[in-house]
Amino acid sequence: MKEKLEQIKAKAIREIENSDGLGKLNEVRVAFLGKKGELTAVLKSMKEVLPEERPLVGQLVNETRASIEALIESTKAKMEAAERELKLKEEVIDVTLPAKKIQVGHSHPNTIALEEVERIFIGMGYEVVEGPEVEYDYYNFEALNIPANHPARDEQDSFYINDKIVLRTQTSPVQVRVMEQGKLPIRMIAPGRVFRSDEVDATHSPSFHQIEGLVIDKNITFADLKGTLAEFARQLFGEDTKVKFRPHHFPFTEPSAEVDVSCFKCGGTGCRFCKGSGWIEILGCGMVHPHVLEMSGINPEEYTGFAFGVGLERIALLKYEIDDMRLLYENDLRFLRQF
Ligand code: DAH
Repeated sequence: MKEKLEQIKAKAIREIENSDGLGKLNEVRVAFLGKKGELTAVLKSMKEVLPEERPLVGQLVNETRASIEALIESTKAKMEAAERELKLKEEVIDVTLPAKKIQVGHSHPNTIALEEVERIFIGMGYEVVEGPEVEYDYYNFEALNIPANHPARDEQDSFYINDKIVLRTQTSPVQVRVMEQGKLPIRMIAPGRVFRSDEVDATHSPSFHQIEGLVIDKNITFADLKGTLAEFARQLFGEDTKVKFRPHHFPFTEPSAEVDVSCFKCGGTGCRFCKGSGWIEILGCGMVHPHVLEMSGINPEEYTGFAFGVGLERIALLKYEIDDMRLLYENDLRFLRQF
């Protein structure tokens, strides 16, 4: 019996040593120690052993079992360690490699200028609203006192979708849309893209941006308009900025004006920037025409208001002293990275 056990043990050791992986090792375990394994078979044949020899044989079987088990365990541990080692080697990370640089984008100069204008007006209690870029002729022209065949339509040569629908030539139609909602008083600005059938040059583009402003309430006067735009100019261009209102004509305001600011470069003495005049034109404005109020369902006897329209690109070009509007649209990184 002892010999038989020695043989089993030797065979087990051989097979364990020849195992080429954890799976194989487990097969060896089953083959020797499992319910139908070789060592278990020896235990089952104990009946054939003389009763007085049974304790000794039993002990031998147990010892053999223990040593096979120990060898399997230690082999298993070695295999697992080798596997782990291999995995670590495969997954090694070279922490000294230079990292990939993340390109962080930033706002376009137009956006920076718009946010600045929005900040100023939000600070004065204005709401920011938006209107559609594809607009009814009615809102873009008719309701702003520019009927069909009015000469003002020439100045704003439009892109027509059909007779009734245009790409808006100005943000002023948003005034009408807000007034029509009938919620008074109104204090809003409406930034957005506008379109005109213009050739591209240093100061023109078929697509640019405006910021419309509208205030409607009881007892609003030209003095409110002046005070508001003077404050706007001071916040945008500096404390010492002065404003000048020049009479002008817009069909939807009466009276109308164009506003110049004192040149923030030379302070008004005249320089290359302001073409020697000391003043720079920044926007159009006026008191909302009573007929425009009426058409939008507001009683001009009860309510008055003012409106203004600013070219966003113009503000951005002035603020950053850029002399060609095309730079804003060309997406040349050498230009954009400067902001
Ligand atoms: N919409 C005018 C334009 O594109 C600008 C303008 C002038 C807007 C006077 C106004 C305003 O609201 O009151 O030329």
